[in-house]
Amino acid sequence: MRLFVVNGPNLNLLGRRESGFYGTFSLADLETKIRGHVGDRAELAFFQSNNEGEIIGYLQNLKESDRLILNAASLTHTSIGIRDALAAVKVPFVEVHISNVYAREEFRHKSYLSAIAAGVIVGLGAEGYLLAADYFLRAGTGQ
Ligand code: DQA
Repeated sequence: MRLFVVNGPNLNLLGRRESGFYGTFSLADLETKIRGHVGDRAELAFFQSNNEGEIIGYLQNLKESDRLILNAASLTHTSIGIRDALAAVKVPFVEVHISNVYAREEFRHKSYLSAIAAGVIVGLGAEGYLLAADYFLRAGTGQ
């Protein structure tokens, strides 16, 4: 199974960004943690961008047989383009948010992506990515 982990705007600032919401781990720490957890059970690829068009371009290259863990960050709440790309390539994905978006501002309660996600994990910090990976690694949900 090819398992992609895509992070959106400002997640490159993890570790020095609002630690009350996002903890103190960096994006590199997060990647190390996911790699350690998944091991050789999947072929992992990581991508982060602050640019909506770059994310859409990256997602367009995914296949239905791939699996995706997606934290689109602020673009979750605004991007019809990311949703359309996901719908076009039909890649099964889990939407992850490090913070509990429902305990925050109302504009974070709306996701353009959730309706077409396999599932959504919010508020569990870095653990959310590991749980999403576990979901895909379980028999029946992975490739
Ligand atoms: C986030 C939540 C979003 O509302 C926010 O814009 C982010 C990160 C999270 O992981 O909690 O940048 O997706």
